[in-house]
Amino acid sequence: MSANTQTGSEPAIETQDLVRRFGDFTAVDRINLRVAAGSFFGFLGPNGAGKSTTIKMLTGLLAPTSGRVRVLGHDLAAEPLEVKRRIGVVPEDLSLFERLTGAEMLSFTGRMYNLAREDTSARSRELLELMELADEPRKLVVEYSHGMKKKLALACALIHRPEILFLDEPFEGVDAIASRTLKDLLSRLTARGLTVFLTSHVLEIVERLCTDIAVISEGRLVAAGPLAELRRGISVEGQESRGPLSLEDYFIKVVGGTRDADADALHWLT
Ligand SMILES: Nc1ncnc2c1ncn2[C@@H]1O[C@H](COP(=O)(O)OP(=O)(O)OP(=O)(O)O)[C@@H](O)[C@H]1O
Ligand SMILES: [Mg+2]
Repeated sequence: MSANTQTGSEPAIETQDLVRRFGDFTAVDRINLRVAAGSFFGFLGPNGAGKSTTIKMLTGLLAPTSGRVRVLGHDLAAEPLEVKRRIGVVPEDLSLFERLTGAEMLSFTGRMYNLAREDTSARSRELLELMELADEPRKLVVEYSHGMKKKLALACALIHRPEILFLDEPFEGVDAIASRTLKDLLSRLTARGLTVFLTSHVLEIVERLCTDIAVISEGRLVAAGPLAELRRGISVEGQESRGPLSLEDYFIKVVGGTRDADADALHWLT
């Protein structure tokens, strides 16, 4: 990680009127995001809100319909390789090669990033140990469990020491021990200047880890800012000064309500 990502005013990620349409449907609607270097940024929103579509556009996996993305001071459309060299991504579908072992997948990834062979093998060994994937070296990715694949994808995203780590639902399907390891690791890395951009539905984890959040709903940004300020600046209707809200209360408030089950709904089931 270079020290210059921690200082100066250049944000790590910046978007300008970012739009993605699929046919007539607008999945991401004129989003303006600014993520400060070194922040731990949580990107929240209900299912189908546009989080994964946005992450794909921020990492060069999906072209925007319109708008601009700047990452680490570079225009992503103009200099995709310069950006991709310096970021790590765990996408929604993980994008692993199923017929490789974990070590082979890491070795391939290290070579793709042009790392020296010795660095790749030393880092690969350490990452496999850390993720508790070292015990079955002959196992192919296709034989991995969902959580194991997720941990391997994370190891691949870290092997080249990225300056920004993009994680789409990193805690989903991961056991409590691995989740603790991951939380500790991410906290250590952000303390050293890494920027983390993650999506998660696990609000307790977001609340504990993130310094800043943005909330997207139906493709539009409905809130963004430092987590503590956002919570102070909003109160639940009719309950004015009840102190800071939990992130769950805040989230439900800004995405528009609780969708309380109507008493007759599912009467055939209950
Ligand atoms: N390739 C595609 N073609 C058509 N529609 C798409 C495509 N990808 C995403 N969408 C639509 O765009 C919207 C946003 O999807 P996206 O995957 O970004 O949501 P999300 O916020 O990541 O949701 P989740 O929390 O369920 O992962 C959804 O309505 C989805 O159906
Ligand atoms: Mg998603």
